[in-house]
Amino acid sequence: MARRPMVAGNWKMFKTAGEGAILTQNIEQLVSGVWDEVEIVVCPPFTALKSVSTVIELDRLQMGLGAQDVHWEEEGAFTGAIAPRMLTDLRCDYVIVGHSERREYFGETDESVNKKAKAVYAAGMVPIVCVGESLAVREADETESFVRSQVRAAVEGLGPEDAASLVIAYEPVWAIGTGRTPTPEGANDVARAIRATVGATFGQPAAISMRVLYGGSVKPENAHMFFAEPDIDGALVGGAALEAESFAAIAEAAR
Ligand code: PGA
Repeated sequence: MARRPMVAGNWKMFKTAGEGAILTQNIEQLVSGVWDEVEIVVCPPFTALKSVSTVIELDRLQMGLGAQDVHWEEEGAFTGAIAPRMLTDLRCDYVIVGHSERREYFGETDESVNKKAKAVYAAGMVPIVCVGESLAVREADETESFVRSQVRAAVEGLGPEDAASLVIAYEPVWAIGTGRTPTPEGANDVARAIRATVGATFGQPAAISMRVLYGGSVKPENAHMFFAEPDIDGALVGGAALEAESFAAIAEAAR
């Protein structure tokens, strides 16, 4: 299984356009030897996509660029929303879809996640679909069935080729920004269930080539333990992605 590991930084609502450009340059300085083996992706807020994209282009970085959300319509009267084509225009490769903060604070549902995933593919990008259970679901011992149903809903109607390039981030809601994590083995069990769910719908080749990331309090100190697991292909990193040193150390651990 030669899946290329991915380390993606979710900057959330941090960094202006100027700060984002500087952070990107600082990351570049620190990860030069890692590119070939690890796909590094940064996901700034919309307002910093242009400046970060320009740094990536001018410095010819092999760094992927992702947005944190998108609307599913091609265009229209949707005040405040951003269309897929506006992101490809800025050379975005990826879009985070269904992050638990979008689900919790902005009314994102399994249905809108599915619409967005389809729209992202239709525009020529790849979604990083986030799934993960709340503490209540975990305590009820329903994590796998809950996550499987999120995955099934998210991927409904995608083509098998799309599924093969899919990235799904398993992010337990209770682990995001809390310093708490599942055990690496426990995270791998859910990652394996995610892969099996995609395989059941799209077949084994898609299951083998898609990537599953772990996310939730990933730090330089714990990253290597998650990356050592067979079904975990990298990380979606929040807080530790805001400093070049910690983000680069996590990318290094994915080698
Ligand atoms: P965290 O966030 O690394 O700060 O826990 C992860 C995420 O929300 O993607």
